[in-house]
Amino acid sequence: MKKYDFDRPIQRRGTDCVKYDLMKTLYGRDDLLPMWVADMDFRSPDFVMDALRNRCNHEVLGYATVPAAYTDALRQWLQTHYAIDAESSELHFIPGIVAGIAYALLSLTQPGDKVLVTTPVYPPFLNLPTACGRQVECSPLLVKDGRFAIDFSDFERRAARCKMLILSNPHNPAGTVWGAEVLARVADICDRHGLTVVSDEIHADMTLPGHSHVSYSTVSEAARRHSLTFMAPSKTFNIAGLGSSTCYVADPALRRRFFGWLDGMGVAGGNIFAFVGAEAAFSQGEEWRRQMVDYLAANVAALRTFLSEHMPRVSVLLPEASYLAWLDFSAYGMTHDDLADRIVNKARLALNDGTTFGGEAFRCCFRLNLGCPRAMLTEALERLAQALE
Ligand SMILES: Cc1ncc(COP(=O)(O)O)c(C=O)c1O
Repeated sequence: MKKYDFDRPIQRRGTDCVKYDLMKTLYGRDDLLPMWVADMDFRSPDFVMDALRNRCNHEVLGYATVPAAYTDALRQWLQTHYAIDAESSELHFIPGIVAGIAYALLSLTQPGDKVLVTTPVYPPFLNLPTACGRQVECSPLLVKDGRFAIDFSDFERRAARCKMLILSNPHNPAGTVWGAEVLARVADICDRHGLTVVSDEIHADMTLPGHSHVSYSTVSEAARRHSLTFMAPSKTFNIAGLGSSTCYVADPALRRRFFGWLDGMGVAGGNIFAFVGAEAAFSQGEEWRRQMVDYLAANVAALRTFLSEHMPRVSVLLPEASYLAWLDFSAYGMTHDDLADRIVNKARLALNDGTTFGGEAFRCCFRLNLGCPRAMLTEALERLAQALE
């Protein structure tokens, strides 16, 4: 069995990548360790790169149809990992999940409609409804036993006036794995109040050992009927730049509305490399995925140990899936702006600012991306301790 190397550093500066090459614009300097945007500092897998190179050997890049091999590999992946028996007709390519959420908002809600999200949450969930002329309704998550929990009485009160829920399953930030019981309760509430649910499952393939992902549509008949599930190999295999995502819709009426809108708007096919890369990932990627997830789990353990030994005042929500930890520095008694300044200018780290995940309630919180070689994580944590302790 091949042993993949996740320790090997890679040089990404100057490759027009968001993670390194946008730091100067966003943080005012570029000599930072980038522990922010959700892509990993691991090489994209060799079998994906080989498949892309191989496709380039045929020197025509004309319009492509959706390859049957891609659909087969995707269906097999969904069946094996999530017990989803999808017909080809129930799947539709989308060129990215953020774009897919915008399409769902535009096609399935009306201008002015309210859209429910649970905060703190991945910032586009907050910005997209507004950009589409809809209104965001935020239900703040609770922190219970070191993890996020839905405040169901608040959630239901707000759901009653909303038309759609955008759910991060698992949750970004903190990689909370929701589980069947919580999702069934969400489904019941959304069903009673007539919401369509967009379940964004982009982080699901990276569910860490000891946790198991439940796909939203599988929790009940109601969930199956009222949901769209968005998935992608982009985070798992570090191929987000390919723009290769999928939407699964089981209900025929919902499918006619959403897929019909996509086709009408010309979002019918993807680009050649999106299909080739995803097919290679789904058909050859299981061993790589497992080893990568084990590596992430060891990074999570390293983070936990470091914080308890060197920065016990940080209150941390450790990921149960994926690589995004949520750090709360309130106990340091500093203002948010002072913390942000020290993190950038003393620790020289780029972290995501907590307030972008839902506003002022998340002052003094920052999101840390630990999808990187362990040495890089260790250096980031040492710098953080030196700057704050
Ligand atoms: C929950 C979630 N959804 C969607 C995305 C982005 O998806 P895409 O690049 O396919 O638009 C991210 C990236 O961080 C994410 O965390």
